[in-house]
Amino acid sequence: MSEVHVHRVQPAWKKNALIDKDTYLKWYADSVKNPDKFWGKHGKRIDWFKPYSKVKNTSFDGKVSIKWFEDGETNVSWNCIDRHLKKRGDQTAIIWEGDNPYDDRKITYNELYAHVCRLANVMKKHGVRKGDRVTIYMPMIPEAAYAMLACTRIGAIHSVVFGGFSPDALAGRIDDCKSSFVITADEGLRGGKPIPLKDNTDKAIEIAAKAGTKVEKVVVVRRTGGKTGWVAGRDVWYHDEIATVKAECKPEKMKAEDPLFILYTSGSTGKPKGVLHTTAGYLVYVSMTHQYVFDYHDGDIYWCTADVGWVTGHSYIVYGPLANGATTLMFEGVPNYPSQSRFWEVIDKHKVNIFYTAPTALRALMGAGDAHVAKTSRKSLRVLGTVGEPINPEAWEWYFNVVGNGKVPIVDTWWQTETGGILITPLPGATPLKAGSATQPFFGVKPQLVDGDGKVLEGVASGNLCIADSWPGQMRTVYGDHERFVQTYFSTYKGKYFTGDGCRRDADGYYWITGRVDDVINVSGHRMGTAEVESALVSHEKVSEAAVVGYPHDIKGQGIYCYVTLMAGEKPDEALRKELVTHVRKDIGAIATPDKIQFAPGLPKTRSGKIMRRILRKIAEDDFAALGDTSTLADPAVVDDLIANRQNKR
Ligand code: WTA
Repeated sequence: MSEVHVHRVQPAWKKNALIDKDTYLKWYADSVKNPDKFWGKHGKRIDWFKPYSKVKNTSFDGKVSIKWFEDGETNVSWNCIDRHLKKRGDQTAIIWEGDNPYDDRKITYNELYAHVCRLANVMKKHGVRKGDRVTIYMPMIPEAAYAMLACTRIGAIHSVVFGGFSPDALAGRIDDCKSSFVITADEGLRGGKPIPLKDNTDKAIEIAAKAGTKVEKVVVVRRTGGKTGWVAGRDVWYHDEIATVKAECKPEKMKAEDPLFILYTSGSTGKPKGVLHTTAGYLVYVSMTHQYVFDYHDGDIYWCTADVGWVTGHSYIVYGPLANGATTLMFEGVPNYPSQSRFWEVIDKHKVNIFYTAPTALRALMGAGDAHVAKTSRKSLRVLGTVGEPINPEAWEWYFNVVGNGKVPIVDTWWQTETGGILITPLPGATPLKAGSATQPFFGVKPQLVDGDGKVLEGVASGNLCIADSWPGQMRTVYGDHERFVQTYFSTYKGKYFTGDGCRRDADGYYWITGRVDDVINVSGHRMGTAEVESALVSHEKVSEAAVVGYPHDIKGQGIYCYVTLMAGEKPDEALRKELVTHVRKDIGAIATPDKIQFAPGLPKTRSGKIMRRILRKIAEDDFAALGDTSTLADPAVVDDLIANRQNKR
């Protein structure tokens, strides 16, 4: 391996930093030695209606049970809003930056309180009660945050579905958690183009009804004024409804382990899983990581470019920052509209201090050239962050040198929907940086590298990344399917949480995430199960079989490569290829658009019929010289055809 350049902690990063190196070492040691004491202290960073007397009660064995602060009572919206009002009622809570650069808004904490209370009252008026599931299918507008917080205020469980998902995908999520209440908008707006959210919702509701889930009420926010369908009695306008209720709503007293939200995420098999997070542990963990990982100080302007449809948006646009009384920026648009300078212009416009984005966006912007960055000031920046996928050292150095002028630390934060918050990350004032490494565990996190046989590896090693013990932000179960939770995360390596990621630890104890070791791929930072794309493909009448793998892609990180076997008599041609691409987009959404489709008369299978994905991955990578042993294949000749017709010839 080539020499890695270490970026030392600069004096300016240390100057007002909340955590220096010694504090990190001390707190980390305390946190893993005595988690009860450590979290017992830090649990007090949020307010409680009823204080907890128990802290940690978790087991990764047998049935797996995870409880934190279990006898305490609190409320998330009350922590994110009410407790700030006395001191910072007039401070901006949310800066909204529209898709159009001339469109923006600021919402103070006082205003946030009124918006959230009104929407909570609207939900109550229509019969939503504690424990009910509410689906939120929204563009990146403040009302998305109001909707989430309003749910938490009355104890309803929200399920936010990313606005880029198709009606089919939305329907599946509505049906899985039996959600009868939906909050959406007429249309979204991204890069100047409208997204038909309400029309998608209408279609999804029809599909869900056929599956047995009836949606009773749809609250519609008017965003663009575009034309939409309307079902009288079922659909109501947000602006009409909030005028009928009071701007005050008492927060429900929630038990620490009451469900907070469900967020669907892809796994290596089957349908997306409903990851369930609960109230108190999640809030403690996201507020603490938001403060220390980003070295957040009172008054900082903080911007995370994620969408609220993903976990990053939940934890680090809405809950973490608002629990800390921060000013959080919500961006409706895309990085390259109206120009490739948009991110940097928004940073200058709102004097952003902390900026958190995905490697895929950085790679695309890097490709557009430095001039788009150089023409902006970016003087306000103090901390930069990345999340969602491994960042290649070139993109990291570009972010550091060009965006940050070599003066701003980068926190490469590794975590997952399941983990609730950041687990492995540098801390700006404490951790020397290495381009491409997520560096070291956050407080209370015990990473372990394990080999294929479950043996724990010490020192310098490569293996499967597990976490040995619980942390408060961890998911508690798969909604409605605890057995799947146990099977997916705790059965591969007994007594450990298995992340699904491969990882290397270097001589300094730094962690380098190498990517998924299961059949999950990461396309532009969006997580996707290859099984989902396969199931979309085989639902097409002309397809008999499909196998999907990821391959390295310069901008997206990974691209989607599909091997498709057609029904007897079907002709493989360009028209069908286009039709299949459209079909997958319709079934899942644009994020699942296949990059390559290879028509394959046969797939490489073992004699027992198992598809050998290893071979398919290699061919997709154009690395067929190293196919390894193919002698166990039922018909080794299929491999020659696959190689001859590969779509990624260099
Ligand atoms: C990947 C996103 C390398 C990883 C918060 C993980 C990363 C999956 C990083 C979770 C990082 C996330 N470096 N890989 N800093 N952050 N990943 O659930 O493979 O959408 O398992 O959560 O993204 O994706 P998810």
